[in-house]
Amino acid sequence: MESRKMKIGVFDSGLGGLSVANAIKKSIPELDIVVQQDKEHVPYGTRSPEEILSFIKPIFQEMIERGCEVIIIACNTVSTNLMPELRRLFKVSFIAVEPMIKYAAKISKSKTITVCATPTTLASARYKDLKKRYAKNLTVLEPDCSDWAHMIEQRQIDERRIKTAIEATLGAGSDVIVLGCTHYHWIEKEIKNIAETRAQILQPEPIVIGQLKQLLKQLS
Ligand code: DGL
Repeated sequence: MESRKMKIGVFDSGLGGLSVANAIKKSIPELDIVVQQDKEHVPYGTRSPEEILSFIKPIFQEMIERGCEVIIIACNTVSTNLMPELRRLFKVSFIAVEPMIKYAAKISKSKTITVCATPTTLASARYKDLKKRYAKNLTVLEPDCSDWAHMIEQRQIDERRIKTAIEATLGAGSDVIVLGCTHYHWIEKEIKNIAETRAQILQPEPIVIGQLKQLLKQLS
């Protein structure tokens, strides 16, 4: 008898979710993965949490109706603003990405870190709480990335602009760069080339996979 494949949903406003889904597929190939995007409203990063919630409610409902037993929120903008609300609305297991401030603070030697994220993530209470909790004694640099997700969606990467933003943070002493938006997976190589050995780049895919493996064990 063929064993049933567990179905999980991976959600992001756009291309960020694809990179997370690809990483999961590579590491746990036996899953049935439903990737959902919101092509109509991407990017989310300059929208209000209320507006974003109105977009995602029907999408999450549909993922659950399609039989997703776990939903991966591969969108920092959603997770830092709407997790309590989503947990209240939907009775499904969630795994959510978040800017990796705790780990960045732990490994930074210069005590200066960079967080690249959308304006709506940076404005969230959850993000501010993470900073207060884990980066109280650090300098946290937040370059203007407000149109990076759009640039990535359009597949028009302005490398000069990325370089200017990243060089400024490296010049200010940052030795860890947190990719706090899943879209930036698609420019990780460019950022690594700019930083070379001057900074470590952190992105959440390995953490999501670890958490998912743990959850699958519990659910099986
Ligand atoms: N990829 C998302 C994030 O992690 C959203 C980017 C956007 O839609 O602006 O924040």
